[in-house]
Amino acid sequence: MKKIRKAVIPVAGLGTRFLPATKAIPKEMLTIVDRPTIQYIVEEAVASGIEEVVLITSEGKSAIENHFDYDFQLDTVLKEKNKLTLQEELNNISNLIDIVSVRQKKPLGLGHAIWMARNVIGDEPFLVLLGDDLVMSEVPCCKQMIDLFGVVQESIVAVQRVPMDQTSQYGIVEGGDTGIERTYKVERMVEKPAPGTTNSNMAIIGRYLLMPEIFDFLGKTKPGHGGEIQLTDALLALAKKRGIYAYEFAGKRYDAGDKLGYLKAVVDFAIRHPTLGKAFKEHLRSICAESSCR
Ligand code: UTP
Repeated sequence: MKKIRKAVIPVAGLGTRFLPATKAIPKEMLTIVDRPTIQYIVEEAVASGIEEVVLITSEGKSAIENHFDYDFQLDTVLKEKNKLTLQEELNNISNLIDIVSVRQKKPLGLGHAIWMARNVIGDEPFLVLLGDDLVMSEVPCCKQMIDLFGVVQESIVAVQRVPMDQTSQYGIVEGGDTGIERTYKVERMVEKPAPGTTNSNMAIIGRYLLMPEIFDFLGKTKPGHGGEIQLTDALLALAKKRGIYAYEFAGKRYDAGDKLGYLKAVVDFAIRHPTLGKAFKEHLRSICAESSCR
């Protein structure tokens, strides 16, 4: 069985939903409590056993690469000032994992961004984690998917159940039973279906485990919804050729590239934070008591 060693993290999108905050700062660098979103994502990959991350970047995203780089000047200053805990924390970030960057010169869509990784990935199955999709879970979402890959040996998309009246905001999967817990065989996949056109509420989130054949289909995919090269279109073609599984992961997902999703993530991560959580919960209780919030 092939080991899943590499993860692609596309961060080349424009982040228009979060303007003006994202005019000069990549959305992946917005802070969730005390770390940028992208650090949680890379940490999930590392905790799942990934050995190499391929960042798909674009102009204006160099802060992301800098965040995981070694900063000699900062390291020296922290040492001189005897701020050794902080120095160690920063060194741990730069030692987290090997990172390769590939430039996507134009934002031609998620499918195109992943296709940019083909030479670095080569002929092995790999993970994709979207740079603005956070998952809070006991077992890292990617680890759950890698464990399932050990059983099904095919591509897997992570899904979550969403209210039926929100299906038109997501890529939706219609799937058949497999006899494996939380796992469905993908029968149909539609990007942002018009209301009433699907009975399924299984929405694709930003975690994929893909067979390398996906690159053949991405290379042939024509621009679809929004004029972008859609990953969903290539996934459909792959599903016809060798099958794809949908996996209802255990955990909670946050779309941190969306203003409300981001705020929910900040609150949920803050109340669970080991040192700030207690005081933050007290603050929430006090504002609830002061306001009309019941
Ligand atoms: P989004 O749908 O969140 O698009 O992309 P976006 O452009 O980043 O943000 P909005 O919608 O304008 O606010 C999903 C993921 O795909 C990446 C994004 O960086 C994000 O991680 N992406 C998207 C690319 O890397 N390149 C693209 O051309 C498009």
